[in-house]
Amino acid sequence: DKGNHRHFMAKEIHEQPEVVGHTLAHYLDMANDRVRLPALPFDIASLKHVAMSACGTAFYAGLIGKYWMERFARVPVEIDIASEFRYREAPLAPGGLAVFVSQSGETADTLASLRYAAQHGQHVLGIVNVPTSTIARESHAIMPTLAGPEIGVASTKAFTCQLGVLACLAVAVGRARGTLSEADEQRLVGALVAAPGLMAEALKLEPKIEVLARTLAKDKDVLYLGRGTSYPLALEGALKLKEISYIHAEGYAAGELKHGPIALIDETMPVIVIAPHDRVFEKTASNMQEVAARGGRIILFTDARGAEEAGVKTEATFVLPDMPATITPFAYAVLVQLLAYHTAVVMGTDVDQPRNLAKSVTVE
Ligand code: M6R
Repeated sequence: DKGNHRHFMAKEIHEQPEVVGHTLAHYLDMANDRVRLPALPFDIASLKHVAMSACGTAFYAGLIGKYWMERFARVPVEIDIASEFRYREAPLAPGGLAVFVSQSGETADTLASLRYAAQHGQHVLGIVNVPTSTIARESHAIMPTLAGPEIGVASTKAFTCQLGVLACLAVAVGRARGTLSEADEQRLVGALVAAPGLMAEALKLEPKIEVLARTLAKDKDVLYLGRGTSYPLALEGALKLKEISYIHAEGYAAGELKHGPIALIDETMPVIVIAPHDRVFEKTASNMQEVAARGGRIILFTDARGAEEAGVKTEATFVLPDMPATITPFAYAVLVQLLAYHTAVVMGTDVDQPRNLAKSVTVE
């Protein structure tokens, strides 16, 4: 049932504050600002290495999870696209943690990677949305996302719920390893509790995004840039746009701009910059200036301070409230989803069932 929405994707985008809140509530003790994980059959305090693997949007969630886990818990995290991981014969020291992220829990490459990790002595943790799935069954432990059924082929609410689980896991591991103090944990949990409200703020920008979508629908190529945890979001924004509007899009780490993609910039090229005012903002701002100097059309997703300090003329600027850096991926994800959605609606594509794609990829 789509409710009063035209597509499942729209419904699922709008459900996010609720389902992310629900997922976070499952892993947080909100009264005491603490993380509360289910009992796990391995000791997270003694982890030395984490290997993560997933496909598509779930892979991008994992990539953000890597930034958090390394920052909060100071554990090295390696992340691979599952179709690469399964064949590259990575050496895995026994007793490591292997994390598999999947909405469906049936993705063939992710499942094959899981089996490889289990055979090589890893503790296997599944982050899945379908608790009866094969990946859920074969994992040694699961941390479910509580997104509810996701019908749209383009993953939206499963992604932000995966972020919720990964953030809780990173804080829990940091606490267990002593790299986060109790005060750090409280501060981070306080930030996570605010995420659903900020996603609701992002949804309020929908009318303005709809206007931008009418312009973007005329473009052939779009570049997305981001740095830090906004880099995986740039990849995710580009994937969403390709999948449902069939417009060619690429996501890049902002710092890679001058290593190639800058050659593409001219007055016709839309460049979507995801840049909350965080510790890497200034660096991204200088990349924006490089785009502006070549006449590129900048579309900026930022906050009030970022808008003020960007130092460039933009085609459109979308301003979200200030928020702790840890939770920017939740709110900024909503903006890239809405942009892809409305562009596809303008193009008249089959939003919920884009051509050539399946909801769950159970063959290689
Ligand atoms: O079910 P999974 O999360 O394992 O699926 C992984 C990808 O196939 C999936 O995220 C795909 O990239 C989506 N269509 C993205 O919107």
